[in-house]
Amino acid sequence: MEDYYSQISKSYNELHKEEQLKKLAVIKKNIEIKNSDLLLDVGCGTGISSQFNCKVIGIDPSIGLLRLNKKRNKILAKAENLPFKNNAFDIVVSVTALHNFDNIEKALKEIKRVGKNKFVFSVLKKSKRISRIKTQIKKNFKIKKMIEKEEDILFFLRNKNYINNYD
Ligand SMILES: C[S@@+](CC[C@H](N)C(=O)[O-])C[C@H]1O[C@@H](n2cnc3c(N)ncnc32)[C@H](O)[C@@H]1O
Repeated sequence: MEDYYSQISKSYNELHKEEQLKKLAVIKKNIEIKNSDLLLDVGCGTGISSQFNCKVIGIDPSIGLLRLNKKRNKILAKAENLPFKNNAFDIVVSVTALHNFDNIEKALKEIKRVGKNKFVFSVLKKSKRISRIKTQIKKNFKIKKMIEKEEDILFFLRNKNYINNYD
């Protein structure tokens, strides 16, 4: 899949920027982010989904998309093997990327491991893997809110086992 995105990397923003920015606006409206938060964007691509008012690290396996990503903190990596310590991030987001992962179950476990207690996934409704994705999300996280936005469902999630789970 990374080869596909590298091939279309030059036209990615032209094709998808507008729709991705709409999803980003819904995410921002529905989560509280502090300037001091550290946020991980899993499958950050060209960086459209990394635009938050806090420190953001993006990971993506597509060299082609990362070359076009002008953000400072980006790492070539896959969701299935995140090069971070446990509980390193206040917030983890992944925008229209989950359906591309090689191993969704492994990736969600990794995301849960590196995140503290706030997770947002925007998932493509028409993906063939949508029911598996929903099952794995429910297995690994507590669903706080779900919003349907055009082609995607946005999941606002909490860690099932987080100790200070007040909100
Ligand atoms: C539709 S693009 C979304 C990019 C970006 N989040 C956005 O909103 O513009 C899907 C992204 O998932 C990335 N991806 C594919 N396989 C992945 C994996 N195993 N782990 C993390 N990201 C992956 C692709 O390289 C691509 O950048």
